Amino acid sequence: MYRATVLLVTLCITSQVASSVADGLLPNGDFEQGPKPSEMKGTVVTAKNAIPNWEISGFIEYIKSGDKQGDMVLVVPAGAYAVRLGNDASIKQRVKVTQGLFYSLTFNVARTCAQEEKLNVSVSPNSEPRDWGILPMQTMYSSNGWDTYAWAFQADGPEVEISIHNPAVEKEDAACGPLIDSVALKLLSNPKRPKVEVYAGKDRTQVPYESNGKGGFKHAKFVFKAISNHTRITFLSSFYTMKSDHSGSLCGPVLDDVKLVSVRNPRRLLA
Ligand SMILES: *[C@@H]1O[C@H](CO)[C@@H](O)[C@H](O)[C@H]1NC(C)=O
Ligand SMILES: *[C@@H]1O[C@H](CO)[C@@H](O)[C@H](O)[C@H]1NC(C)=O
Repeated sequence: MYRATVLLVTLCITSQVASSVADGLLPNGDFEQGPKPSEMKGTVVTAKNAIPNWEISGFIEYIKSGDKQGDMVLVVPAGAYAVRLGNDASIKQRVKVTQGLFYSLTFNVARTCAQEEKLNVSVSPNSEPRDWGILPMQTMYSSNGWDTYAWAFQADGPEVEISIHNPAVEKEDAACGPLIDSVALKLLSNPKRPKVEVYAGKDRTQVPYESNGKGGFKHAKFVFKAISNHTRITFLSSFYTMKSDHSGSLCGPVLDDVKLVSVRNPRRLLA
């Protein structure tokens, strides 16, 4: 009886904690709450904790939609404000998560200068050494000039620190750095494993592929019986991801080197 009670209480507590897990925009993830005027010098943020919920370091600018950079009018995708990460600048936030579960961190980025830009995304604590990502910012020419980037991780603690860092050091213009907006966290129900389904005649098979994020490929073999003179062979990717507005490029498995071989004795081939 005692045990049952304890178990129930534990379950209730667990579900309460789980509901406080960030799923969606991080607190002030759209940077709509900004620094006090006394904590800014022009657009530059001067205090470490000036942007609510965030800790900043380095050259960070607080940008309002419509601000001008030279002749260019800066447009912000969500709300009216975004931040710019200058040379060696970073933004950090601590978030409660559920240890062991998989999350996807997404954010929007716009480049404002014609130069190569990269961001280092890291989540700590992290049991895997060197598990951070350098994401090169590529202009995809999405309709509003902003592109969405994602970084998936497994939570290695009940609370994690998410950091986005612009590792650039030597650039002519310290103010040339990517604009960041809409930092969000999404709980992934499963680490997504892409899968190709193959259909031919009346036969079908599935080829799962587990990515380690390091490149790689897998050979697959599929034996089918031709039931007519023309047989349609279909490859279907059953999991894919795309941007929430259904624009942009699809992510999915790449298929190559498809060969069709006729065999007299399929049993021997399978053996
Ligand atoms: C990226 O950030 C992580 C965590 O702060 C750091 O350990 C790593 O050295 C950084 N990588 C680069 C190339 O700056
Ligand atoms: C299939 O091809 C064979 C050989 O070309 C031919 O004799 C046969 O009539 C074809 N069958 C059908 C249903 O088209």
